[in-house]
Amino acid sequence: MQPSLSFVIIDSDRHSRNAIEEVLKTFADARVYGSVADFQDGLNLIQKAPPAVVILEARDLENGIEELKYLLSKFPGIAVFITAHENNADWILRMIRAGAGEYLTKPIVAAELLDAVNKVSRLHNLRSGHTSKKGTAISVYNPSGGMGTTTIAVNLAATLAARGEKVALIDLNLFSGDVAAFLDLAPRYNLANVTAKTGQIDASFLRNVIVPHSSGVHVLNGPVNLGDADRILPEQLQEVIGILQTIFAYTIIDTGGQLFGCNMATFDCSDRILFTTLLNLPALKNAKRYLAAMDNEGFGANKVKLVINRHIPKDDIKLADAEKILNTKAYQTVPNAYADARTSINRGEPLISCYPKSPVTKAMDELARQLMQEETVKDKAVLQRRI
Ligand SMILES: Nc1ncnc2c1ncn2[C@@H]1O[C@H](COP(=O)(O)OP(=O)(O)OP(=O)(O)O)[C@@H](O)[C@H]1O
Ligand SMILES: [Mg+2]
Repeated sequence: MQPSLSFVIIDSDRHSRNAIEEVLKTFADARVYGSVADFQDGLNLIQKAPPAVVILEARDLENGIEELKYLLSKFPGIAVFITAHENNADWILRMIRAGAGEYLTKPIVAAELLDAVNKVSRLHNLRSGHTSKKGTAISVYNPSGGMGTTTIAVNLAATLAARGEKVALIDLNLFSGDVAAFLDLAPRYNLANVTAKTGQIDASFLRNVIVPHSSGVHVLNGPVNLGDADRILPEQLQEVIGILQTIFAYTIIDTGGQLFGCNMATFDCSDRILFTTLLNLPALKNAKRYLAAMDNEGFGANKVKLVINRHIPKDDIKLADAEKILNTKAYQTVPNAYADARTSINRGEPLISCYPKSPVTKAMDELARQLMQEETVKDKAVLQRRI
């Protein structure tokens, strides 16, 4: 996972500032620390906490060069991108000679800004001696439908994002994915477009095709054409997940269907598999069969955790009965709150934003907290081994 890249934008035009912010939002590691119209206001912000990059508008060549040089002399560690309406060689040459990291002609072209950000991001990682700690991959799985697997995947992702984590969400229900509908998204690119390019993809490519949702979750949707679903190969998927883990602290994968192919490949590279089930007899029978089969395949209790969904403590089948049948303790129970879950889906909004007080939201927060705590424990263990 890469350290975040902070930005200060100084631009007299509000529309231009907004446009730059919108582009930066699509870059998972970017954090806009301040966006101001005036150079002096920008300087005040930079003095408080120097960002990695300042995006500075130059309206006048001499004045712009002076501001640029001043910033670079006072804050040698930052990169300055100049934006200007002028597109002539004299401006570009003199700004670059004065030390501008990039010269972007206004109105800003998103792809050009992203290219510049990608370049500086690579340098930033090198400079910070960043030894890429891999993010955590978590599959949410039940072979059958109707267990609330997508509800848990989507809401866990949104809860982790609300806790300040960088989160990607992949819809691996290749033939009938719902993630985009749950979040009211119409992504231009999907998993099939990405896997078609394996061997050529890298973090910057993925950053450009993965869709940011207002919750902070970045979504890689399933294929739109069913014919494309068959073409996604397990090893391609592993490559994509591996790269996402270099960008995001958490990659959540909504899975379903049988125990082979892309599912098995995904489980292989997952740190956790959250097995969802309801407390009814058919669901528990299947859970028993599948947990045993997964154990046989090497996905045992250290990786697979049980999440009981739609839990009603007074139901005929009690939690303790289920734990006995499945020979596993529940990692998390999620209460039954059908109206909340249904309305959240119909509105295309995660529960944390439309029903922050729902018992399901609370359970998602507990689940996110447990998973995050495990990461902290793991990090401490690694640190101790190093010492
Ligand atoms: N905790 C909950 N309380 C009440 N209803 C829930 C809960 N979780 C999910 N549901 C409801 O269960 C139904 C199925 O949910 P969801 O689509 O998430 O399941 P799924 O296992 O992904 O199924 P599929 O992929 O086959 O559509 C939805 O109507 C959803 O609103
Ligand atoms: Mg589903």
